[in-house]
This record gives sequence, structure tokens and C-alpha cells, in this order.
Amino acid sequence: MDQTGQKRENWGSRFGFIMAAAGSAVGLGNIWRFPYLTGMNGGSAFILIYLFFVFVICLSVMIAEFTVGRNSGKAAVGAYKSKSRNWTFAGVIGVLSGFLIMGFYPVVGGWALAYVVKSFTGLLAAPEAIGDSFGAFIGNPVEPLIWMALFLAMNIFIVSRGVAKGIETAGKILMPMLFVILLLIAARGLTLEGASKGVEFLFKPDFSVVTGQTFLAALGQAFFSLSLGMGCMITYGSYLNKSENLAQNAAIVTVMDTSAALLAGLAMFPAMFAFGFEPAAGPGLVFVVVPSIFAQMGALGPILSAFFFVALVVAALTSSVSLLEVVVAYLMDERSWTRKKAVYISSAIMVAMCIMASLSLGVMSGVTFLGVGAFDFFDILTDKIFLAIGGLLLAVFTGWFVDKEVLRQELTNGGTVSFALFEVWHGLIKYVIPVVIAVIAVTGIMSISQKGLMIFGLAVIAVLALVSKKL
Ligand code: PHE
Repeated sequence: MDQTGQKRENWGSRFGFIMAAAGSAVGLGNIWRFPYLTGMNGGSAFILIYLFFVFVICLSVMIAEFTVGRNSGKAAVGAYKSKSRNWTFAGVIGVLSGFLIMGFYPVVGGWALAYVVKSFTGLLAAPEAIGDSFGAFIGNPVEPLIWMALFLAMNIFIVSRGVAKGIETAGKILMPMLFVILLLIAARGLTLEGASKGVEFLFKPDFSVVTGQTFLAALGQAFFSLSLGMGCMITYGSYLNKSENLAQNAAIVTVMDTSAALLAGLAMFPAMFAFGFEPAAGPGLVFVVVPSIFAQMGALGPILSAFFFVALVVAALTSSVSLLEVVVAYLMDERSWTRKKAVYISSAIMVAMCIMASLSLGVMSGVTFLGVGAFDFFDILTDKIFLAIGGLLLAVFTGWFVDKEVLRQELTNGGTVSFALFEVWHGLIKYVIPVVIAVIAVTGIMSISQKGLMIFGLAVIAVLALVSKKL
């Protein structure tokens, strides 16, 4: 029972939980960001480093988030607070990150939605204009806002229906659909003449291009892609029943997320090489290069392109739903708000943030704060600062402030399931992971070129640490 006298919501089934958690993990990070980061960082060498971080660091962090969440039965803030008020701020940073990511993520989700329709309305008919039309579209003061609002409305619909009826149902339908679409497109790309060069680019490592920045990019991407470091998996874990095997579920979600990223790479690079496009195309890759590829595919082009953007919408939607849920669960747990009130009020604020983010790419591009527009402000603060620090705090909290026996009991369901690697996991979380994240995060944060923004982000964390005790 919680303060409002209601029983805590629960996932309806194991499959449903896995689909929801994988839905959170698989998102724009996999399909929009992973391929362009791979392209910019030398292909497979980046992928190898990424895989190392995912399976050595992030899998352990995900196990820790599930464990802390289920053990406390509370969302991000409550989970930390139930141990000590000194730690409340770590949860608050998570909720704040959720808000900030929702300040730009639905904007990109809206673009994807628009491109489903654009695939049929002449976008592919003029391949040479695809790049310019993307630039004009995102800079338009009205059109992207309408798509963003539509995308957010879908989030509101799903999250207001609750954990099992809303989030879980969406995941169960949308996730399998996403994998089928990606497989289909990858199969088409792989059978094109010249596709093998793309496969080679993805899987034959070239370490001459690896620098310190490659490690940074890989770690940041691993956290973002697995939805870690902001209490999302704590929140999802808090709805999990006591008979679930946490370590096994975390492994399944991690493997699904990684497969989705690799599949997205396979859906793009072979076709890209086959048609002679450049792999290092940056953030516009998905919206410019991908439609250009489909434009070469004749009658099948528009249909495959629409499928591709449906997959992107689906991936983005199940992730943004989890971001909204982090905020909503906090308001329900700690402020005793009803679910509907929490959804409506928080999404109203998110709409306002998204409007600023979208306009910052067009008519308001001259308006900056600490050297960046609203879109980059929300993105850089979370991706480069808050998520890494959130992950670091979670590892320190779990390793040093939660009793080892409590963790063992939680992870083995009171001794009924085995977790042979418990000692290894605990050693990683307690000693290795905090050091690795600290080294990479500190170098990363120091290398942010907008120094004002960097100081602002760190100041926010410091202020939260001082005032959050009272929350
Ligand atoms: N994992 C999501 C993606 O890859 C983004 C996300 C980050 C979702 C943090 C929830 C929490 O797009």
C-alpha cells in the first residue's frame, strides 16, 4: 500500500515487463544515434568498445537499478530516499533528466511521424532535394510543432492508462513489430549488390581511428541507449513482482537493445555503401541519407521508407513513454498525485519545452542560453552530464550504502533462484564501475566546449544536493 491507500501497480506478465523495459531501452538512441555515431567514429572499432561497455558496465548497472527499484518498491526518488535523505538528490537528478530529455525527444519523434507521411507525398521523387527539405522542415515554425504535439498526445494516452493497461500493452504490440520491420529492411539492404562493403565497415575493426573521444562517445551512448543513470529502470523494477529473476531479465533486455542497434546498422550501412553514400553523415543520417537510399529502390522505395519511419516512431514512443513515467511515478509516489493529474501537468510543461526546442532550430536560432539553443541545451545537459553522474551515483549508492545481504536476497529472490555471478557483480558495482565512470565522465565533462553550460550543469547538481533533503 502507498500513501494514497492504493496497491502499487504491477506488470501483468513477464513477457510484458520485458517488452516494456526493452521498449524503453530501444529508442532513437538505437536507430537515430547509434548508426551515426558508428559512422563518425570509425565503424566496427567503435562498436567493439561500445559492446564492451554495454556488457561489462551497463548490464551490471541495469541489474543494480532493477534490484534497488524492486527492493524499495518505489520510483527513483523514493528508492534513494528510503535509505537516506542525503541521497534524495540522486533521484531528483534522475527525474530532472527525464524532464529535460522530454524537452527534445518528442521533437525528433514528431519528425519521424512526419516522415512516415512524407515517404508517400513526393519526398523520394526528388532525391537531390531531400537534404534541403529536411533543413527547411525542422526550421519551419509550425509544421514540426504539430507533429510533436501528435507524438506527445500518444504518450499521454498510453501513460494515463497506467502500467499494465497502457505501457505494457504498448510494448507488447510495438516491440515485436519494430523487430520485424528492421529485419525486413536489413534483408533488403543486404541483398543489394555491393552491400558487403557495409557489412565489412560494421564488423572489421580498424583501431587506428580510436581516440579518447571514442571511449567517451561509446560510454555515453551505452548509458543513453539502455535508459540508465536516471532512475528509469529503478521505476520499472519497482513494478516487478518478487518472483522475477532480475539478473536474467536485465540480460535479456540488454541483448535486445544491442541487437536492435546492430540491426539498425545492418538496415542502413549495407544499402548506404551499395548506393555510394558517405557513412559519416551526422545526425541528419536517418532523415537525409536513409530516404535517399529508399529513393533508389523504385516502386518499393516509398513503402520501405514508410515502414522504416514507422519503426523509428515506435522505438521513440516506447522510450518517451518510459521517460514520462519516471516523472509521473515520482509525482504519484512522493506527491500523492493521481496518475491523470501527474500526466497532464507534466506533459503540459514538456510541450512548452519542446516548443522552445523545436523553434531553436529555426526562427529562434538566435536565442541562446550559455551559448546554445534550447534543443542542444536539453540534449547536452542530460547526455554529457546528468546521465553519467546519475549512473555513478547509483553504483556508489548500491555498492556502498545498500547492505550486501539485502542485495543478495533481492537478486536471488530470497535464495530461491541462483545468481552465480553475485560476487563478481558486487565487486564490479562497488569498485570497478564507479572508477571507470568517474574517469570517463570527468574527462568527458571537462571536454564540453560550452564551458558556461558545463559549470551550470554541475552547479545544478550541487544545489540539488544541498536542497533535496527537504523534498
Ligand atoms: N534508451 C532510449 C533510447 O535509446 C532513451 C532513454 C534514455 C529512455 C533514458 C529512457 C531513459 O532512445
